[in-house]
Amino acid sequence: MSARAGPGADTVASLTVAERAALCLGSDFWHTAAVERAGIEAITLSDGPHGLRVQPAQGDHVGISGSLPATCFPTASALAATWDVGLIGDVGAAIGLEARAQGVAVVLGPGVNIKRSPLCGRNFEYFSEDPHLSGRLGAALVSGIQSQGVGASVKHFAANNQETDRLRVSADVDERTLREIYLPAFEHVVTAAGPWTVMCAYNRVNGVHASQNRWLLTEVLRDEWGFDGLVVSDWGAVVDRVAALAAGLDLEMPPNLGVSDVAVVDAVASGALEEAVLDTAAGRVLRLVERARARRPAEIDVDAHHALARRAAARGIVLLKNDGDVLPLTAARVCVVGEFARTPRFQGAGSSEVNPTRVDTALDELRRTQPDLTFVPGFDLTDPGRDGALSDEAVTAARDADVVVAFLGLPPEDESEGFDRTHMDLPAAQTTLLDRLLDGPAPVVVVLANGSAVLLTPWHERAAAVLECWLGGQAAGGAVADVLTGVVNPSGRLTETIPLRLQDTPSYLNFPGEEGHVRYGEGVFVGYRAFDAADRPVAYPFGHGLSYTGFDYTDLAIDTAGSVDGDDLVLTARLTVTNTGAVAGREVVQLYVGAPPGRVARPPRELRGFTTVDLAPGDGTAVEFTLGARDLAYWSTAHRRWVVDPGTYRIAVGASSRDIRLTSGVHVDATPPRPRLDGSATLQEWLTDPDGEAALRAAVGTDGDGRPKGILGDVALLRVIGNFPLATLAAFPGLGITHDLVRDVTRPGR
Ligand code: BGC
Repeated sequence: MSARAGPGADTVASLTVAERAALCLGSDFWHTAAVERAGIEAITLSDGPHGLRVQPAQGDHVGISGSLPATCFPTASALAATWDVGLIGDVGAAIGLEARAQGVAVVLGPGVNIKRSPLCGRNFEYFSEDPHLSGRLGAALVSGIQSQGVGASVKHFAANNQETDRLRVSADVDERTLREIYLPAFEHVVTAAGPWTVMCAYNRVNGVHASQNRWLLTEVLRDEWGFDGLVVSDWGAVVDRVAALAAGLDLEMPPNLGVSDVAVVDAVASGALEEAVLDTAAGRVLRLVERARARRPAEIDVDAHHALARRAAARGIVLLKNDGDVLPLTAARVCVVGEFARTPRFQGAGSSEVNPTRVDTALDELRRTQPDLTFVPGFDLTDPGRDGALSDEAVTAARDADVVVAFLGLPPEDESEGFDRTHMDLPAAQTTLLDRLLDGPAPVVVVLANGSAVLLTPWHERAAAVLECWLGGQAAGGAVADVLTGVVNPSGRLTETIPLRLQDTPSYLNFPGEEGHVRYGEGVFVGYRAFDAADRPVAYPFGHGLSYTGFDYTDLAIDTAGSVDGDDLVLTARLTVTNTGAVAGREVVQLYVGAPPGRVARPPRELRGFTTVDLAPGDGTAVEFTLGARDLAYWSTAHRRWVVDPGTYRIAVGASSRDIRLTSGVHVDATPPRPRLDGSATLQEWLTDPDGEAALRAAVGTDGDGRPKGILGDVALLRVIGNFPLATLAAFPGLGITHDLVRDVTRPGR
C-alpha cells in the first residue's frame, strides 16, 4: 500500500521530498519534526515505561537530569509480579493521564523483552522469562496508556535480551525459538492492544540490524500480525537510514540531522529508494501526529497516583517463605536493619529513570504503626569503610529484638541499563551482616529490593521469611510496610525462576556471547521451561509466592469443541478455587500445557493462562480458562508454520510451575503436516506418508512372489540407510530406486 492512498495521502503528496524525509526523522531528542506550512505540528515522545521522564530542555538521553516530576510507578519487574492485568491497566491509564498533563503524545514503553538471563542489566524494565505472561501484561499497560488518547511504544523489537554490546551484537536465534519465545509477547501486544508505535531494538537479529530487518519490521510485524502503527528506532539504532526505511522503519530518533535526511533525499533522487516507501513512512508519521491531536490536557491528582503506586507495589511483593507464620508482624520489639529501609532503592538507572513526585521510606511507614521500633543501618551504601562498625552495631541491637527485619538489596551501581551483571550475588557486606543476624536469637525477616533476581542460597534456608519486593517505585516503602504488618495480604508471584546457582541458568554458557554474536543455544528452553525439562532443583520456581492464607484447587474439568483441522478448536478448563484460611486473600491461578511426545522437543509445561481471584475466608469461586490450537502448537521450522501434533495434552493447573494441584489429559486429533516428498526427502519420510508410500511401492513394484523389490523388501537394509534421501539412494545400484523413478514419483500432480 502506498501512502498516496494511505493515511494523510493528500498532505503527504503536498510535501516536497525533503519535507517528507524530515518528517521521518525527529527534529531533536524528544520531538518529531513540524512542517508548519502544511499545518503539521511536532509531537513529544518520552520515556517510559513505569513513569514519565519529560526533559523540557534538550535532555541528557539517560538519567533524570532536568526531568519534570512524575509518579514513579513500580518497575516492570514489580508490576509483573502482580500478574494482575486490571491493576496494570490502571497504572497504564495513570501514566497516560500524566502524559496528557505533560504534553506527551507517545510514552516509550512497555518493554516486553524476555528475561533470557538473570544477568541482563535491564531485567528490571522487563516483565518475565515467559512470553505468554509478558504479552498479557504488556498489552494491559498499552491499553491503559492508550485509553487516555496517548500512544504507547512497545519495545525493543526484537531479541534485545542483554546490554553487552547492545548496539552491535547479533542475537543468533533459530526461527522456532524466535516464534515461540522472543516474538509472542510483541505479537500479543500488537494484535490485542494495537500500540500506536513499536520501537525497534538496537541489536542485530541473525546478523541484520533490527532497524533494517525487513523480515521483522515488515513481513512479521505488518504482513503477519497486521500492525498498522509506526515503527520508531530505538535512540540511535539506525545504521543505514535508507536501508531502514526500505525495511519498514518509519521514524528515526534522535535525528541524525544533516546526514540521514540528506541520504534519504539522495536515494529517492537516484532511484535507490522508491519514493512510495518514503511516502508510506511519512504517512505513518502524519497519522501518529493526527492521532495525538485528539488528546485533551489533564490535571493530575498526585496523591491518588501515589496511592495507586503503593497499591501496585504491594501487590507485586512476593512472599517467598514464611516459616512459623512469622509474618504478618505481631512481635512487640521489632528491630529494622539495613540502610535500604531509610534510603530505598525503588527504580533502575538509565532511560527509564523517573524524577518521583515523592518517596516513601519503609522506615517512616513502619514507624506509623510501630513507633518504638529500633533502626540500625547495618551497612553503608556509599562508604564501605563503615560497614564493619555498622554491622557490629546491628548485631548488638538485634539481640534485644523479638524479630529482626533486614532490608537488603542491590546497590544502584550493580544493575542498570547499559551493562549486564556478571554475578547474581548480594554485596558481601550485606550477606556477612545477614549471617551474623541469622546466628542471633531472633527470627530474621529479609526484605529484598532488586530489579533482577539475586541468589538467596544458602542464607534463605535460615531466614524465617523472605519478601522479594523488586524495584517497587516511589511508594514501595509504604507497600512493604503494608505487607509486613498484614494490611495487605501478599499475592505477588515470581515471573522468573530464582535459581540455586547462576551456573544452572539455561543461557549460562551462551551469555553474553563473544565477537559480536550471542548464540541462543538453549533454544526454547528458557527459564522454567529449561529447569523443568532438566528436572533441575531451583531456589523458588516460576509462579511461586505465598499468602497469609491458603487455597484449595478442586474439580478440574476440560471441555473440547471444534477441531484443530477445522481451525476452530476450543478447550475450556474449569475448576474451583477456595480460600481455606482465616483471612481474605488473592490467589494467582496458573494453567500450564504439556504436549505429548512428538517430532520436536517440547518443554514439559508452558504457561497458557492465568487469572487472579480475591476470596474471603471459606469462599470458593469458579475459574475458567479458554485455550485454542495455538496454545498447543509449536513452530515448525520445516513447515514454517504453527503445528499441533495429535495426542494427549496435559492441562495442569496450580500455584507455580512446580506446584501443580490438578492435572487432566485431553486427547486432541490433528492431521500432521506432510513432508515435502521429493528427491531430498528420505526413504523413511516417503514410507511414513500414506500417499508417498503407496506411490513409491507402486513404482518399485514386486517380485514374482509379490514381495516388494529392492530395498523395500529388505527390512535390515531399510533400518541402516532408510534415512538417506531418495535421490541419494537412486545412485546406489540394486536398491530398486532409479533417477527416473524419483522423477516419476515426484512429478507434480502424481
Ligand atoms: C533505550 C530506550 C529508550 C530510549 C529513549 C534508549 O537508550 O534503549 O528504551 O526509550 O533510549 O530514552
